[in-house]
Amino acid sequence: MIRIGITGLGFMGMMHYLSYQNIKDAKVTAICEVLPERRTGDWTKIKGNFGPQGTQTDLTGINTYAELPQLLADPNVDLVDICLPPGAHAAAAVAAFNAGKHVLSEKPIALKIADADVMVAAAEKNKKLFFVGHVLPFFTAYAFVYDALKTNKYGALLGGHFNRVISDPVWLKNFYDMNFIGGPLLDLHIHDAHFIRLLFGMPKSVQSVGRLRGEVPEYFSTQFIFGNPALVVTSNSGCIFQQGRPFMANYEVHFEKATLLSDGTVLTEDGKVEQMQLPDLDEIGVFTNELTEVINSVKADRPSAILGGQLARDALAIALKEMESVQKQRAVAV
Ligand SMILES: NC(=O)c1ccc[n+]([C@@H]2O[C@H](COP(=O)([O-])OP(=O)(O)OC[C@H]3O[C@@H](n4cnc5c(N)ncnc54)[C@H](O)[C@@H]3O)[C@@H](O)[C@H]2O)c1
Repeated sequence: MIRIGITGLGFMGMMHYLSYQNIKDAKVTAICEVLPERRTGDWTKIKGNFGPQGTQTDLTGINTYAELPQLLADPNVDLVDICLPPGAHAAAAVAAFNAGKHVLSEKPIALKIADADVMVAAAEKNKKLFFVGHVLPFFTAYAFVYDALKTNKYGALLGGHFNRVISDPVWLKNFYDMNFIGGPLLDLHIHDAHFIRLLFGMPKSVQSVGRLRGEVPEYFSTQFIFGNPALVVTSNSGCIFQQGRPFMANYEVHFEKATLLSDGTVLTEDGKVEQMQLPDLDEIGVFTNELTEVINSVKADRPSAILGGQLARDALAIALKEMESVQKQRAVAV
C-alpha cells in the first residue's frame, strides 16, 4: 500500500483525492491545506472547469495539517502529492525529498528553470522518485498516439500540429503573473510542450510568434525545429477575447503510414478513413490512470517514462524558450 499526503486541497487536490479512491494500492493518509474548512472536509466551494463539484467529505482516518512541515514529519506518508499553485511547487518538493518522501507535483513542474533543476537535483540527491502530473498522455485521444508510437503501428513519426485555445479566463486572479501561474503558455500549452517532447524528443530551437500582454504571451504559434529537418511539428495556443469561445484542444499527427486525428480518425496509405472508437473516460478515469502510473512506479521503485521530473523540466525549458522567441521576434535555441 502506498500512503499519500496531499498538499493543497483545491480543485486538483480534490480531483487527485477522488481518483486515489479507485486505486487499490493507494491510500490518502494525510492532507495539508491552509483553509480550515477544507481540513474538516467542507469541499463544497471547490469547483474547477471540469470534473465534479466538491461535496462534504468524510476525512475520518486522515491526518489533517495546516502546514507542510507537519505533513512531512508524518511517518505514514510515502509520497507527497503537491497540488499547490505552480509558484509553490519547488520549495514544497525540495522539502519533501529532504524529508525522505517520493514526490508527485502537479504541472507545470515550476515557473523558473532554476527551480525545476533544483527539484530534479533534490530527487537525485535523496534517491527518491519524482513525478510531474502531466495528465495529457492519459487522455484516450493522446494515449492513442503514444501507443501507436510505442508499438510502431504506423511506422516513424513525421510530425504533427497541436491546438489548445481558451477564451480569456477573466475569473482567474493572477493568471498572467509569471510568479503565480504564468499565463496560457505555462498553464495550458505546457501540456502540448510536454507531449511534443515525449513524442519527438528535444527540439534544437523554437520559432514562435505571438501577442504579448506585457512580457507574457497571450496567444502564440510555434514551429519546433529538430535535428531531423524533415520533422514538421507546430502548435497553436493561448487566449482569445470572445467569451463565447469554448475550450478547444486537438491535434493532427502524421506517421509514415497513417495520419491520426484527435477525434479517433485514422487516414491510411490505401485511401481508407477509419473511425476508431476511443474509450469514453471521464476526467476522474483519466486522472485515475495517471495516478495508477505513479503508484505502480513507486511499487516497482522505478521512474516513469511519461511522468518523470526531467521530462517535465524539459517541457518547461521548451515553453520558456517559446516565450523568449515571442519576445525577441526570432528563433531561439533550446
Ligand atoms: N492537470 C490539469 O489538468 C490541471 C488542471 C488544473 C490545475 N492544475 C494544476 O494544479 C495545481 C493547483 O491548481 P488548482 O487549480 O487546484 O488550484 P487551487 O487554487 O484550486 O488549489 C490550491 C490549494 O492550495 C492551497 N494552498 C495554497 N498555499 C498553501 C500552502 N502553503 N499550504 C497548504 N495549502 C495551500 C489553497 O488554499 C488551495 O486550496 C497547479 O499547479 C495547476 O497548474 C492541473
